[in-house]
Amino acid sequence: MSTVLGEKRAPAGRTAVMAGIGSYVPPGVVTNDDLAARLDTSDEWIRSRTGIATRHVVSPGTATSDLAVEAGRRALKSAGSADIDAVVLATTTPDHLCPATAPAVAARLGLTGVPAFDVAAVCTGFLYGLASACGLIAAGIADRVLLVAADAFTTLIDAEDRATAVIFADGAGAVVLRAGRPDEPGAVGPLVLGSDGDLPDLIQVPAGGSRQRSSGRAAPPGDHFFRMRGRDTYRHAVERMTAASREAVIRRGWRLTDIDRLAAHQANARILAAVADRLDIPAERQLSNIEHVGNTGGASIPLLLSQAAQDGRLSSGQKVLLTAFGGGLAWGATALTWPDLTPF
Ligand code: UT7
Repeated sequence: MSTVLGEKRAPAGRTAVMAGIGSYVPPGVVTNDDLAARLDTSDEWIRSRTGIATRHVVSPGTATSDLAVEAGRRALKSAGSADIDAVVLATTTPDHLCPATAPAVAARLGLTGVPAFDVAAVCTGFLYGLASACGLIAAGIADRVLLVAADAFTTLIDAEDRATAVIFADGAGAVVLRAGRPDEPGAVGPLVLGSDGDLPDLIQVPAGGSRQRSSGRAAPPGDHFFRMRGRDTYRHAVERMTAASREAVIRRGWRLTDIDRLAAHQANARILAAVADRLDIPAERQLSNIEHVGNTGGASIPLLLSQAAQDGRLSSGQKVLLTAFGGGLAWGATALTWPDLTPF
């Protein structure tokens, strides 16, 4: 089975509507004290500088697709149907450099034959994946898309690098998008996305790609690990998420005071507070789970939305603003009215 592109006619106004959501974190938990036992850090430093207390991590042998399949399964259950035309996987930690991980995820979900591809936009992966999925639906290429954002981020992290090892963690979130109308609850968009490729080294894995491989030289030790210039990244994250959020709200025809819930990429609690402060969104309207899951990269937003919908912090009819920032640089924002669905 394969999908014939352009076969479906796209009626004007056709838009992607969120029809299901699910998430998954691996069972392993690492506390700040666990990290402080082997790194020059402390529970006090990590809590006060990042807002993180514990995080979930994969056990040896568990890869991104394992997280993605579990989250995808839950999203399909939430949608009440496994009828899917395309699978999009946003990840920075694919199972292999080649091939893409999405086809394996699709196959394990019983979706062999549907188009399946990866999207690489680091911590903004979910929003870029959303753009891809919405585009497939709006163009009439697909009626129902499974979008999964999954990262086994700890597999990229240098366990000796205290600047990143205390922040990043593992998890997955997934949504099912179906064709619908822009005025329905759950309708996504408009999406505001941006990038700045002049700063690729703020967040980078220096080795392993064609740049290093074609040099003919072996990679210096440690260059296969994720590196981040934390302080500079912090500054850009606040600026870009704030600006993208403002634009997304305006383009939706709303005002910032209309926003019931802010669901920002869980990069660092101080970044979240700074963005919310600039947008004048009070604490009770901010969603956060960073204390218990850390920074899960691209998985961050759907994991947050799924958990918040499960525990009642997010309910149908609320106006939600999503925003993210990460390596690339890449950033984005969008807004939607939360639909009536059962999260898993
Ligand atoms: O996910 C998308 C992109 N990522 C982000 O948006 C993350 C952005 N950046 C951050 O979250 C923060 O910059 C960090 C959490 C990474 C670092 O926090 P910071 O407040 O910006 O700290 P800093 O890098 O300015 O370092 C302050 C001090 C330094 O010591 P000195 O030079 O002042 O003596 C660091 O060496 O804290 C030190 N430090 C630590 N100390 C204890 C850095 N990491 C640690 C640590 N434990 N884990």
